[in-house]
This record gives sequence, structure tokens and C-alpha cells, in this order.
Amino acid sequence: MNTAIILAAGKGTRMKKNINKQYLMLKDEPMIVKTIDVLETTPLIDEIIIVINKEEKEYFKKFILNQYTFKKISQVVDGGSQRQESVYNALLVVEEKTNIVLIHDGARPFVTHEMIERCIHGALEFDAASTGVPIKETIKIITKNQIVKDTPNRENIWVTQTPQAFKLDVIKSAHQYAIEQKITGTDDAMLVEQMGKKVKMVKGDYQNLKITTPEDLIIAETILNKKTT
Ligand code: CTP
Ligand code: MG
Repeated sequence: MNTAIILAAGKGTRMKKNINKQYLMLKDEPMIVKTIDVLETTPLIDEIIIVINKEEKEYFKKFILNQYTFKKISQVVDGGSQRQESVYNALLVVEEKTNIVLIHDGARPFVTHEMIERCIHGALEFDAASTGVPIKETIKIITKNQIVKDTPNRENIWVTQTPQAFKLDVIKSAHQYAIEQKITGTDDAMLVEQMGKKVKMVKGDYQNLKITTPEDLIIAETILNKKTT
């Protein structure tokens, strides 16, 4: 059995709107509905746990859960103040019989079935897998005074996205280890790496953007218009 965790408990501060970005309409549907829908319709996903911030739980139930028919959402969990804490809260309620846990940002509605499948297969083989894409630009490592120290080889640099998928025991121990060692990771794969375990990188897509700032809404609309024509 494979369980997906969808994170929707952020505040969306960089979007600068009066509602959380996950509830913004992308064409005909709220962003979070588009995201849930892709996971719902992936046969390899059996169950979905969604993480919502406490103050928005009523809103989520009224305007999302009651308006759309999702069959795989088994639990709605309270978010934490940081993303890592939100993931941890969800991990605490994942059923023991789960083999793979797939973690995905609610703010990435352009995830596809193929990406989810590649990620799960990666986790089945390597215990931990992250979606990502090769970087398009040149990276500079700089000093505190903004002097360039190094230009790493671009061929070996990928940008991480979600989904990321893990064997249940691996991601649980990684989060436990992070708490003990006071490690804050910017993604879940990083916590697994910190334990000294390997993470497989699988191909995502440049379109699988995380909708973060108002400019991203314009890109999102362009992607959606292209899809329907
Ligand atoms: N997230 C979460 N719990 C948090 C913080 C973030 O579940 N405490 C989720 C967000 O809802 C989002 C994903 O993690 O789907 C990626 O985070 P980000 O894009 O940074 O979203 P926000 O934190 O909401 O945005 P911002 O940082 O601009 O406030
Ligand atoms: Mg954030």
C-alpha cells in the first residue's frame, strides 16, 4: 500500500493575496483541487493524507472536501509552523501497512501520473527518491562579500521538486533523526541524506513549478491554456 501526503498548511506569504494561495482559482478549479486530483487518479496511490493549517480546516472542509468528491483522502492533519513539522505530523498517522510514502507540495498542481510513478519506482528500488530537473543556468558559489569563489559543473546540478517518495521506515527515522540532531531540511530528501542514506533522483518536469509568487500565476495560466487547446 502506498500513501501520499499532500502539504497545504503553509501561509502563502510570498503570494501576497488575502487568501492562502492553495485556494486561488487556476482557471476552473482551486489550485489544491488540481493537485489532489492528480494524486487521486494515480492507481499506485491508495490513500491520501492532507495537511491543512488549523485555522483553515473549516474552510477546507466546507469549500474543498464538501464540494468535490475525493475518494482517497483518509485523514486531514493539522500543519506545523514549518514545512518539516507539517510532514512529521502526517507521518505520525500513516498506517503501518504502508510501504511507500509519497510527499508532495499542494502548491505544485502540474505534477503528473508519470512523475508520481517514476518517483514510487525509484523509492521501491532505492528506498528514497526525489523528483528533479537539470539546472538551466550557471551557478556561482560566492563569499559573504559577493565575490565568486567557484563555478560548479552544471551537468551535476539538479533542482529538486516534489514528489519525493520513501519507504515508510526510512522517512520516519530520517525525521526522528532530524529532531534529535536539530536538523532543519529544506526538503525531506535532505533529512534522509543527513542519515547517510542514498537518494535516487528521478526526472520531473520544468512545468512542475511550485506556485510561489504572483508571476507564477501567469505561468500557470499559460500552461493551463496550452493544455486545453
Ligand atoms: N507547507 C506546509 N506547512 C508549512 C509550510 C509549508 O504544509 N508550515 C506547504 C505549503 O502549503 C506548500 C509547500 O509546503 O504546499 C511548499 O511551501 P511554500 O511554497 O513555501 O508555501 P508557503 O509556505 O505557503 O508559502 P510562503 O513560504 O510564501 O509563505
Ligand atoms: Mg514556505
